[in-house]
Amino acid sequence: MGQEQTAKVILDGNTFELPIIIGSEGERGIDISKLRSLTNYVTLDHGFGNTSNCESAITFLDGEAGILRYRGYPIEQLAEYSSFVETAYLLIYGKLPTSEELREFSGLFNEHSMIHEDMKRLFNGFPVAAHPMAVLASMICSLSAYYPDIDMTNPSKKDFDRIAVQLMSKVRTMVAFAYKKSIGEPFVYPREDLEYVPNLLNMLFSSPTKPYKIYDEVVQAMKVLFILHADHEQNCSTSTVRLVGSSRVNLFASISSGICALWGPLHGGANEAVIDMLEAIQKDGGDVDKYINMAKDKSTSYRLMGVGHRVYKSYDPRAKIIKQCAHELLNKLGVDDPLLEIAIRLEEKVLKDPYFVERNLYPNVDFYSGLIYKAIGIPKDMFTVMFAIGRMPGWIAHWKEMIEVPGGAKIGRPRQIYVGENKRDYVTINKR
Ligand code: SDX
Repeated sequence: MGQEQTAKVILDGNTFELPIIIGSEGERGIDISKLRSLTNYVTLDHGFGNTSNCESAITFLDGEAGILRYRGYPIEQLAEYSSFVETAYLLIYGKLPTSEELREFSGLFNEHSMIHEDMKRLFNGFPVAAHPMAVLASMICSLSAYYPDIDMTNPSKKDFDRIAVQLMSKVRTMVAFAYKKSIGEPFVYPREDLEYVPNLLNMLFSSPTKPYKIYDEVVQAMKVLFILHADHEQNCSTSTVRLVGSSRVNLFASISSGICALWGPLHGGANEAVIDMLEAIQKDGGDVDKYINMAKDKSTSYRLMGVGHRVYKSYDPRAKIIKQCAHELLNKLGVDDPLLEIAIRLEEKVLKDPYFVERNLYPNVDFYSGLIYKAIGIPKDMFTVMFAIGRMPGWIAHWKEMIEVPGGAKIGRPRQIYVGENKRDYVTINKR
């Protein structure tokens, strides 16, 4: 992108000039690629809160203004008018598909919805109580053993399209099979006559003795959730996919590492942790003040799950849509979930409490999403694998962008500041 005046760094009496990079939305960065060779200094930035690891054209977000756009399109419009498969195409290929392109792309989902029959045996290797994220990370990585991968350095479009759709289509089947395994029901196979979300719902909830009635409002709610989770620039799991992928390992293994990163309760695992928190408050008589005070008490590490964000210092634009979606779905389904009332009371207090206001802590994407999954009948330990389904196109898009860097993306290899022992000689055990 644009480059203009430089940044001057004065070190040990010397002045060094570093280029300034300006993004298409006016974001400014200091390019420190040559800092060490020029100055023999490195930078230190715990959690990379001030450090960009790449230039990307996929997603733009403005944490102060609460803006989120996929390839320039506001998520509010995509959530209202697009489909998850169309949004996935947009993220991966950079443009909205023509009707012919969408038909061809959607058609591949049926071709690649099944998993190799031998992979079914892998599910039997897990204990019934295995967390679905452990199962999913393993199954996604095992795709590299069952399906030929692509030449990482220069994949053909046809090959890349295949593995991208294999991941997006098979992830549904794997999640559904993991759920069926956990409840001791037979696997339900994908159907060619069902679109993306209805197919997933059918595999999750229908059984040989009981067909599942697919309600439009449930499909719509899931579509909105998947679109809103589809990408979020350099979050922990996406940066992980890029870093692992930069070693030129295959896409399946790179995505599997992203699933592991997403699992953490500070990241995608928060949607499950929010329900745990709301259930604890409910069990405690609905005393939200007690939990707010716990979160403010620095002598504990307790935090309100679903609140706060590294980038958003205003209300997460996704949370606004999801909150509305939760209200509408629970009303349409006639679900009276006491946790929703607790969540609303908790949010109201957080938005007024100086501790949270001063730190720009607002509800994030995970605060209300679990209430929707719960109303649909998805068990709590499946919430984060649902997040993984939604995030799949974003991970794929970033991996593609990374391997397409002209001349090949550099392998990710951060530096460190060593703070350990200085040189010391070995002492034999009898002298210690
Ligand atoms: C996701 O990055 C992404 O884009 C992620 C994501 C995506 O789409 O990929 O948006 C999805 O991961 C959303 C976040 C889900 N996680 C949670 O809801 C977990 C609860 N939230 C936090 O733990 C926290 O807010 C983080 C991890 C989300 C962000 O942490 P930061 O940016 O590292 O902030 P911090 O830890 O430096 O906190 C700054 C201050 C601290 O207090 P002080 O030291 O200033 O006194 O805010 C406090 C923190 O103690 N704080 C909280 C809090 N979050 C931050 N205090 C109470 N409750 C919280 N939830």
